[in-house]
Amino acid sequence: MSASLAGHRLLVSAGPTYEDIDPVRFLGNRSSGKMGFAIAATAAARGAEVALVAGPVQLPTPANVRRLDVRSAAQMFEAVMHELEQAGRPCDAYIGAAAVADFTPRRFADNKLKKTPGQDTLTLELVKTRDVLAEVAVHVRRPRLVVGFAAETHDVAAYARGKLERKQLDLICANRVGVGATGFESDDNALLVLGRDGFERALGPASKTELAASLLDLIMERLR
Ligand code: CTP
Repeated sequence: MSASLAGHRLLVSAGPTYEDIDPVRFLGNRSSGKMGFAIAATAAARGAEVALVAGPVQLPTPANVRRLDVRSAAQMFEAVMHELEQAGRPCDAYIGAAAVADFTPRRFADNKLKKTPGQDTLTLELVKTRDVLAEVAVHVRRPRLVVGFAAETHDVAAYARGKLERKQLDLICANRVGVGATGFESDDNALLVLGRDGFERALGPASKTELAASLLDLIMERLR
């Protein structure tokens, strides 16, 4: 029997971000948004008040979820901070399932970049984006529970634990991505959930809906 999340406010981020280079090109990533959308849908079905900040994805809005669409990492940052700072009751949990770009082009070219004759290379200068998750974790209105995701191709547990500590999270959900792994673009996934208190639990392989339910059970235990 799943615990009820009635009376709880959850803020979820999902999907990729697109960092525009010029009017026709962008830097993106292969996140489908399915994990974050499954978390938002399941939390709302359990009675939570859910705001979902979504990057560019082709997914229907889950029932009873308030969705805010964004495109870039900067827009995702603004939308999440706006939700956090809104008057009223603070969020109980932030679940950062979005694959936010770590770098964005320093300049947006107003006109389409053109090749010049004889040009063999193009150098794009990228600057670091603000880390939404890390800033939520140190915000004056920090949710009681801050949950991050880590997509890693190798040394999954070690890198995830590093992120958990560096970003001052309560929980981190790590998954292996890359050739032959579940994760990005897939309906199924397997997560290794690590907690600041030394907690460790492997979830799946299972559908993203099943994983969302198990993860929300863990979140619920900690919100109680
Ligand atoms: N994240 C974020 N804002 C960013 C970058 C990442 O909120 N600008 C969040 C993601 O939503 C996710 C987690 O941080 O919850 C993923 O971190 P990741 O980008 O994998 O970690 P990094 O610390 O940037 O490490 P690396 O890129 O070296 O793997």
